[in-house]
Amino acid sequence: MVLSRAAKGHSFGRSRPGEDGGYSLHKTPVRNTSFRPLPPTWGSAPYRLDLKSIVSDADYASIVNNKKLTFHLNGDMGGIKYGVPQELVASGMEADFDPAKPASENPAFLYITGDCVYFNGEISQYFSQFYEPYTHYPKPILAVPGNHDGENLTTGSSLDGFVRNFCAPKPVKLPESGDSNRTAMTQPNVYWTLLTPFVNIVGLYSNVPEGGEIIAPQTDWLVNELKTLPANIPIFVALHHPVYSADAYHSGSTHMKQVIETAAEKSGRHPDMVLAGHVHDYQRLTKAMGDVQVPYLVAGNGGYHNLHSIMKVDGAKMIAPVVFKDKEDDPVTLEKYSDDHWGFVRLEVTDKTVLGRFYQVPRPQEPYSKGNQLTDYFEFDLKTRRYTPNTLTPATTASTVAKATRAAKASTSSASRVRWVGSRISVCVTNAGISSAARSARSDSSITRPSMRPR
Ligand SMILES: [Fe+2]
Repeated sequence: MVLSRAAKGHSFGRSRPGEDGGYSLHKTPVRNTSFRPLPPTWGSAPYRLDLKSIVSDADYASIVNNKKLTFHLNGDMGGIKYGVPQELVASGMEADFDPAKPASENPAFLYITGDCVYFNGEISQYFSQFYEPYTHYPKPILAVPGNHDGENLTTGSSLDGFVRNFCAPKPVKLPESGDSNRTAMTQPNVYWTLLTPFVNIVGLYSNVPEGGEIIAPQTDWLVNELKTLPANIPIFVALHHPVYSADAYHSGSTHMKQVIETAAEKSGRHPDMVLAGHVHDYQRLTKAMGDVQVPYLVAGNGGYHNLHSIMKVDGAKMIAPVVFKDKEDDPVTLEKYSDDHWGFVRLEVTDKTVLGRFYQVPRPQEPYSKGNQLTDYFEFDLKTRRYTPNTLTPATTASTVAKATRAAKASTSSASRVRWVGSRISVCVTNAGISSAARSARSDSSITRPSMRPR
């Protein structure tokens, strides 16, 4: 029976995909989430920007002499519907500075993993969603674009706001910056590399389609960057769409996994860490690759009004760490997450280690005096490419995998079980009455289907 959704001239909720007997994959999305051609910018290949050119000589000397680079990481920040969370995160990041300490102990910049301005990256939204919230953020703000930055309306062109405000040839003051002091950033391209003394950050633009889409020449550029950047300095790859995510809204992306793994194979070098956003929560996941571990951070709870929950098992939230396998049978561990608060990541990189912290900020209804709360902390050894033992992260072991699988199997009723879904590393409760083909179709569409709602 088809549920009635209209009566006596009234129209109610929209039907669920497939409810009318049709195939949801054939529906035309309300929004145009198609791939957008990339705009030209002022830089020339290989699109590199040296941190030295945008921070003071004194700050740069402190970083070099004290052998430490500190920076903030965040994503999905624009507070278009409700600005308070973004303001709270901005205040939290500002409180993370200590003028009494040297520049190396303070963040040198904020790196945004995309979705800076909702819903369509409009120039007219830059003041309220970017310049005003970070009026007092004391350092440069750098970014890769997200799907919303590129999803232009017919009245504009893709990434026009992003290019104007992040990829200006010179640090000019733009009208949309209003009464803030901040000048436009001078990134050479929408995909680009930030050079620093202790880490090089290769920033990708994963475009508008759900799950992301990266094609040549950007894919060739990525291979070249992995090949030619100095071997003695770690590489972080930053992009909007996450490779792995255990959330119950977006999930990870097989496409992004293929882009990174193919480039790693062609270049002979895998990034040391992968930084993403798009999913509005914080997750630290670890992929085991032989003897080494690769952390994958999702930092997407930077201010947009809604948060994305981690998926549940039998109606209950998972307690990290939880080990999964992805579509290619690679074990991936969800080490830690935060899905009920907004917050920010602080990373400190030396020539030996990466020290990471996630701070959650008070929710709007909580006392602001509560301040930043540290809810994740890790140390990663850049030489062994493994977490430093005896920090808060339990080691990923085969016994952990077996234990997690046994526990999941034992805890479920006969109508539910564990399964692995593509790069959507997940423990899903499935209905035993659904055929395996139907389950497979559903899992594929959960990765690629266009969303009807803003992300
Ligand atoms: Fe997004």
